[in-house]
Amino acid sequence: MKTSDGSDAAKRAAGESAAEAVDDGAVVGLGTGSTAAHAIRELGRRVDAGLDVRGVPTSYQSRALALEVGVPLTALDAAESVDLAIDGADQFSGPHLVKGGGAAHAREKLVDAAADRLLVVADPSKAADRLDHPVPVEVLPDARTTAADAVRALGGTPELRAAERKDGPVVTDNGNLVLDCDFGEIPRPADLAADLAGIPGAVEHGLFVGIADAVHVGTESGVDVRTF
Ligand code: A5P
Repeated sequence: MKTSDGSDAAKRAAGESAAEAVDDGAVVGLGTGSTAAHAIRELGRRVDAGLDVRGVPTSYQSRALALEVGVPLTALDAAESVDLAIDGADQFSGPHLVKGGGAAHAREKLVDAAADRLLVVADPSKAADRLDHPVPVEVLPDARTTAADAVRALGGTPELRAAERKDGPVVTDNGNLVLDCDFGEIPRPADLAADLAGIPGAVEHGLFVGIADAVHVGTESGVDVRTF
């Protein structure tokens, strides 16, 4: 569920700023979405200029883009470590994120959590004093109704994410479904994250608690880097 009102110029400023922070020789987690795509394109330009880097993609989209712009790829189980990940967010409040607007949050969380540092790239529309964006929960197809019941029991309103230009639901890169779960304001993200993680059949949810080391917030005129 995408709700960004941000301009492409702001997203590009954020993505390029984070890509400039990548050191020679680094293994970099490649996030998913329109803002992270700007970082991947900038990494491609830096590779053309001689940067030695290997990327760990978080989705079909980020893998395809990295191949297109010439960023060499590796995999999480092939890399000895991940130095840095660059990823977008649907909303951030300090170091806490809601992700999964592109249904890629399961692999994003794997890679982002494995990285020594996570740089989030965002436009100003993603900033919030308190998280209140619906939380995507990737579920096994067989768990669609039972997981939805469990979300309701936690006080949320689940909605099966519908595909665009295909009849029926979104199917993730992992072959699962997504429930967008509206909880209103989320005063205690860690508590909700633990509750969602405990739902049988829930593969991964889009609450990323305390995970960001910095957020590069792009604007039309520059970048505001917030560190945590
Ligand atoms: C992918 O599933 C998401 O977590 C994205 O990183 C998030 O939706 C941000 O995407 P945009 O940069 O396109 O807003």
